Amino acid sequence: MMQKSKNINVKAKPVTQAARLSVAPMMDWTDRHCRFLHRLLSRETLLYTEMVTSPALVRGRAFHLLAHSPAEHPVALQLGGSDPVELAEAARIGAAAGYDEINLNVGCPSDRVQSGTFGAVLMRQPELVAECCAAMQAVVEVPVTVKCRIGVDDQEPKEVLPAFLETVSGAGVSRFSIHARKAWLKGLSPKENRDIPPLDYPLVYEMKQNFQHLHLSLNGGVTSLKEAVAHLEMGMDGVMIGRSAYHQPWDILGDADALIFAKQNPFADPVEGVEAMLPYVEEHLSEGGKLGQISKHMLGLFAGQPGARLWRRVLSEGAHKEGAGVALIKEALDAVRVAREGALEAQK
Ligand SMILES: Cc1cc2nc3c(=O)[nH]c(=O)nc-3n(C[C@H](O)[C@H](O)[C@H](O)COP(=O)(O)O)c2cc1C
Repeated sequence: MMQKSKNINVKAKPVTQAARLSVAPMMDWTDRHCRFLHRLLSRETLLYTEMVTSPALVRGRAFHLLAHSPAEHPVALQLGGSDPVELAEAARIGAAAGYDEINLNVGCPSDRVQSGTFGAVLMRQPELVAECCAAMQAVVEVPVTVKCRIGVDDQEPKEVLPAFLETVSGAGVSRFSIHARKAWLKGLSPKENRDIPPLDYPLVYEMKQNFQHLHLSLNGGVTSLKEAVAHLEMGMDGVMIGRSAYHQPWDILGDADALIFAKQNPFADPVEGVEAMLPYVEEHLSEGGKLGQISKHMLGLFAGQPGARLWRRVLSEGAHKEGAGVALIKEALDAVRVAREGALEAQK
């Protein structure tokens, strides 16, 4: 008999509140450094890890994949897998490592994931997803949630999605993030599967009306906080943003605490966010880390603002050079300041 994790139940409420806005799990992107940056920019938004597979944790004992900073909370661990016993063990390990939520990936269409029978292909097996979630929920106190698609391949989303929600919520899952497009498992690359199948927001709104007791977040194609607010006004409980949060972190997260959570924003200007990152960068470098591992996540901080191109160029050209450190970030900031002054002059 597996032991229930000692993790505390009181975490469930704040993490559900935080789910009003979340940054989507993204492999190779939402690593711990990225999440640290995002957390500086928004204290309230829920953050997700990259997907970690249950075989990697349970059979591979790859516990380093769970490393995170206490500053990242509220933060959810996304798991990939389809074996209830193994997923339960992975969930237990994740909750014991301090994650506030365990999320199951039922949306990822990549070949590698399909071969292990997990990700989006599980849209075809809601009973198995329910079994997996029940097994996880039985051993952790933190919420178990699901990120899914509206269907795969030739499935009819209007039929499949409500049946999926019905079955999986029957196992005790009350929060879902729905990527509002199908995944086509044959013929499209994972990247194409994020753009080509058309978005169907009305279907996701309809799910919210039909499953009022569930907490449903809409995901897919949201490119601004204004759009996020519009989805919330349509009745959604939450909005999950992926690529735009990564490429324009200031635009999405810099005003999120005020606009979505009615709290004070941490910073008035992305420059302050950069300055707040410097001690974290110093620490990473002093432990033998490389600047580029952090600075790559900062490239979009000034997107759409004067100096954005210079900022990117200074960082991306210099970060991989021997001895690159915070001085490079300061140099890039100086370039932004000069560009800002130039833009102000031009307005006069
Ligand atoms: C680089 C990249 C990696 C991704 N990795 C994952 C993942 O590990 N797990 C997952 O559920 N979805 C993953 N996704 C999908 C996103 O979570 C999200 O559902 C998708 O990008 C649609 O949202 P967006 O239009 O706001 O980007 C990934 C997306 C990108 C761009």
